Amino acid sequence: MQNFQFPDDFVWGVAAGSYQVEGGWNEGGKGESIWDRFVHIPGNIKDGTTADVTCDFYHRYEEDIALMKKLGYPSFLFTISWPRVIPDGTGELNREGIDYYRKVLTCLRENNITSYVVLYHWDLPQKLQERGGWMNRESVGWFENYARIMYRELGDLVDHWITILEPAVVSFEGYWSGLHAPGYHDYSAALQVAHHLNLAHGAAVRAYRETGLTGEIGVKISMNMVYPADPENPDDVFAAKMLSYQANDLFCGPIMKGEYPKELFDYLEKQGVVLPDIRPGDMEAMCPEIDFFGLNNYFAQFVAYDANVWPLPGKAVKTGRPRTPYNWEFCPDEFYDVLKLLNDTYHPKKIIITENGCASNDWVNDEGRCEDANRIYFIRSYLKRAHRAIQDGIPLAGYFVWSFWDNFEWQEGLSLQFGLIHVNFKTLERTPKESAYWYSDVIRNNGFTALPESPGK
Ligand code: BGC
Repeated sequence: MQNFQFPDDFVWGVAAGSYQVEGGWNEGGKGESIWDRFVHIPGNIKDGTTADVTCDFYHRYEEDIALMKKLGYPSFLFTISWPRVIPDGTGELNREGIDYYRKVLTCLRENNITSYVVLYHWDLPQKLQERGGWMNRESVGWFENYARIMYRELGDLVDHWITILEPAVVSFEGYWSGLHAPGYHDYSAALQVAHHLNLAHGAAVRAYRETGLTGEIGVKISMNMVYPADPENPDDVFAAKMLSYQANDLFCGPIMKGEYPKELFDYLEKQGVVLPDIRPGDMEAMCPEIDFFGLNNYFAQFVAYDANVWPLPGKAVKTGRPRTPYNWEFCPDEFYDVLKLLNDTYHPKKIIITENGCASNDWVNDEGRCEDANRIYFIRSYLKRAHRAIQDGIPLAGYFVWSFWDNFEWQEGLSLQFGLIHVNFKTLERTPKESAYWYSDVIRNNGFTALPESPGK
């Protein structure tokens, strides 16, 4: 057995996103978001559910925060819903919305739980979508204005800020695959959106520095390793390289170094994609220094060349690794690789794993228990690699499980369970799973004892 002991100041926490857990979608003066619009269109959500109520965190935050406290979780990462605080996206504030977040943050303080607050987790005010949403360059200013108001209204209660969450998902699922709101299918638009998100991030960081607040601010990006299905096949190698640029460097490049992946842009231009409108000063504006890099990671991708796929000639293939109910392959070794890639390429001052976890098929049994052994194994395996990364000198400073509760999993609806806490969506009853108690022990002991890593398993 090996003792996986973490540094004394290692940050442990749980994460969630406003749209996925709050409910109260049309209460308390909240405006409509693009996701409210999207889920109410039949066919968009696989199981036909909506997030109108979901976990009802809007009404149950005291009970839920008390449960976090009881389980000994020291940090909570969550999002502000932009249309709850500024219903039209710009203009009038909704006091009731601001008061709601002040109450949540105060409750966290009273329970000694550190807050990590995300400004944008995909629920753009619908009114801004009607003005072009993130395709409109004015979105940078809308976001900066919203961020400044949040710093002013909530800055005394927030410990750590995060600007934008997974800009790659906003761009490519929202504007290319159309699986997410607003459901578009336009690659050039997705690229333009990516550029505006990178600029919006930069603007929000610079605005924060002007406030004189002394907390930390970072970003939250999903980075995934992208490997060629056959490393001996040069076409697969090329496709994997291009898809890795798109998934990772299109965002990390500008945010961390002020540069876009030129090889990707050159190739896309040849495919007839309209490249983003990059104006003088943009490159410098996207990369103000951040205090931490929030890394989300769930899986790796294996890519085979396919000339019929436009604009990047690759498609993801499965490799036979074990899969979770989301059909994602279990890739703990590749998680180590992504930490190394991030560190070697972009040299962040500090890395925090802001999301990691898995879906599993969990139910409460007739003994009142929810026995999710696979999740414990999944998280333990990833934490072993996190531990190795720290020993290898990678500045990894924290880990957040996705997610505290089972919640609304976007286009998959309520049917995929990612929580440490089981939620019965009929009664809203919460039941901590075995993994919730196991994670409490990990936190209390600042580590765990387990068999050593066994690569490839
Ligand atoms: C997102 C979460 C989502 C999770 C699992 C992340 O990309 O930030 O909102 O629930 O993945 O799919």
